[in-house]
Amino acid sequence: MQIQAGEDARYHRAMGNLLVLYTQVDQFIMEACAARIASAPDEKARLGLAKQVGDECRHVTIQKRWMQQFGVDATPVISAQALEQLKQHFAGLDWTDFLTDLYLVIEALGSQAVEEVVPLADPGTRESLRIPLQDELDHVAFGLSQLREALAAMPAAEREARLQAIPGRIQNLVDRLGDIGLPVFDWFADVGSNREALVSVLYQRRDELLDKLAA
Ligand SMILES: [Fe+2]
Ligand SMILES: [Fe+2]
Repeated sequence: MQIQAGEDARYHRAMGNLLVLYTQVDQFIMEACAARIASAPDEKARLGLAKQVGDECRHVTIQKRWMQQFGVDATPVISAQALEQLKQHFAGLDWTDFLTDLYLVIEALGSQAVEEVVPLADPGTRESLRIPLQDELDHVAFGLSQLREALAAMPAAEREARLQAIPGRIQNLVDRLGDIGLPVFDWFADVGSNREALVSVLYQRRDELLDKLAA
């Protein structure tokens, strides 16, 4: 009985941390997209970004409401300083690199990791993720199509060089996020996920995305 209670407390704490992280990331994405609207290359891109700002705002609202109900300690897990550094990183990128970093890494790999948690989650958390995860599919599709368009508009040699550089960019950003030092894999483990399985799903997803881009 006591073991059960201890496990429940550990699950609750870890899921709470993952929810706080997801909400902070959504808020970050909302701000990064809002900051890009004015300089986006065309109207389609501007409208897509604007729609996403609305979606992320809705996700933040849904998650905050659920976290309160679930009794989560809402203290941010990413420090203000780390967020500011990330913000500066994104602000300095050209459109193509912005799309690569935001959509391939933060949106696609990030939401893939969240997807992996869904079958392990309690019913309330699962329900809180339903609408956000549906929207994330749209966001990834938008980012991928914009990235394909941006690459297609480049001279062949530049397109090739950019494509070649993408796996390295992905790894750099993943390393950079790792440097923030959050025990994210421990949280995943504490909600019942397996580190190796999670990492392998993420590599698979990355390879799928790279194939889609190169096609
Ligand atoms: Fe979101
Ligand atoms: Fe999103």
